[in-house]
Amino acid sequence: MAPFVIALYVVVLVLMLLVLLSAVVFLTPFVLPMFGRGAPYVPSGRRTTERMLDLGELKPGERMVDLGSGDGRIVIAAAQRGAQAHGVEINPWLICFSRMRARWTGVGTRASFRCGSLWAEPLGAYDVVTVYGLGPIMGKLERKLEAELKPGARVVSHAFHFPHWLPVKENDGVFLYVMKNGRP
Ligand SMILES: C[S@@+](CC[C@H](N)C(=O)[O-])C[C@H]1O[C@@H](n2cnc3c(N)ncnc32)[C@H](O)[C@@H]1O
Repeated sequence: MAPFVIALYVVVLVLMLLVLLSAVVFLTPFVLPMFGRGAPYVPSGRRTTERMLDLGELKPGERMVDLGSGDGRIVIAAAQRGAQAHGVEINPWLICFSRMRARWTGVGTRASFRCGSLWAEPLGAYDVVTVYGLGPIMGKLERKLEAELKPGARVVSHAFHFPHWLPVKENDGVFLYVMKNGRP
């Protein structure tokens, strides 16, 4: 075989390996949460996002956190309402996107994001917690919220119930819980 053809094969092989490696590096953070203690990336719709914040009666100046903040849409919508909004997200690509999006929308320091596990986020200072989780994590999350949230804190869940809590309000697949002493 001519050296030129061999070189061409090597270049094509290296390019294919690079594409494969990039795909693995990019896609892994999207796939891993499905096997761990979290939900995969499925964003809430625009109307659902607004419904979650309406149901949580989020007020300007209040502190809210979205656990598993995805592309940052709930955090940014909360910051646009004047809240001090924070997102915790395990996927570094989504964190980069959320930060850029927050900059584009001009919400300034009212929106912040941390790349890491929602299980490591201290929740005691928040007035409103939003979550769009999955059935299997709701029991464990319920215990974390009971242990950490202050009385009067509101928890808004998209699509999934907590196993031992009764919602005080429900609107089209969004559930509101209000903490009393240790639980709703
Ligand atoms: C169903 S999406 C919800 C995204 C966003 N909250 C929304 O409603 O548009 C769940 C998000 O949680 C993230 N996630 C999964 N496990 C996590 C964990 N242990 N800690 C932080 N984020 C996690 C996923 O990467 C995904 O972006």
